[in-house]
Amino acid sequence: MTNNQPLPPLLAANGLCKSFGGIKAVNNANITVESGSITGLIGPNGAGKTTLFNLLSNFIQPDTGEVLFDGEPIHNLASHQIALQGMVRTFQVARVLSRLSVMENMLLAAQKQTGENFWHVWLQPRKMIQEERQLKRKALEILESVGLDKKVANYAGSLSGGQRKLLEIARALMADPKLILLDEPAAGVNPTLINQICQHITEWRKEGVTFMIIEHNMDVIMSLCDRVWVLAEGSNLADGKPEEIQNNSAVLEAYLGQ
Ligand SMILES: Nc1ncnc2c1ncn2[C@@H]1O[C@H](COP(=O)(O)OP(=O)(O)O)[C@@H](O)[C@H]1O
Ligand SMILES: [Mg+2]
Repeated sequence: MTNNQPLPPLLAANGLCKSFGGIKAVNNANITVESGSITGLIGPNGAGKTTLFNLLSNFIQPDTGEVLFDGEPIHNLASHQIALQGMVRTFQVARVLSRLSVMENMLLAAQKQTGENFWHVWLQPRKMIQEERQLKRKALEILESVGLDKKVANYAGSLSGGQRKLLEIARALMADPKLILLDEPAAGVNPTLINQICQHITEWRKEGVTFMIIEHNMDVIMSLCDRVWVLAEGSNLADGKPEEIQNNSAVLEAYLGQ
């Protein structure tokens, strides 16, 4: 056997459909995300992008079609199991816990904590303290890398919209993910912070994290993505390199027609 076969995609959606009442929010969508890539998902408002993310992360179940992560179907897995397998997502409106501190938000996002098991608190207190220390160190390292280390003790609710988005991405990184799905990471974020977020994404990709990004900011999509998928009215409209998509007349039409 030669080893020339291309690697299977890290994430694949085959024939996904999802209706809400009479609205076909996602209508026979097919998507692949190659391991190590930054893959974009664009389309006019209401095209079904967020619904597709909800399907990809099994947040909601498709009417038909399937999602394969690392070659395995995910339809039987709960969100935390999917996170353990290495896929995490952020939300269009950041879902940080406002009344907890930035550090508490980070620690809650960590996986496989010994402290989560009641008996370990009694039987292995030292191990638990050690693990918590390690997790705090890891959280601080990630927070430093996104410039939130000075805010560890602040309530997450006191952060700006842009900082909350960074905290959400930082939380996602606590799970050591293979793939992060980002829903509009640049929306409502000031340009300086957008540049920082883009730089971080490029760095994390170098460290082996794969990204799929929904974004309306075309500068972000064009500068970051290896490949872009375009959704319109729930269906695939086009996919290709960013420069191909930029010059695709059907894509331009879909945006102008909105
Ligand atoms: N939970 C829901 N209930 C009813 N309709 C929904 C729901 N979620 C999304 N939709 C509808 O599905 C379509 C696609 O929405 P969405 O996935 O949010 O699009 P996008 O993220 O591309 O802007 C829209 O018409 C929206 O109103
Ligand atoms: Mg959306």
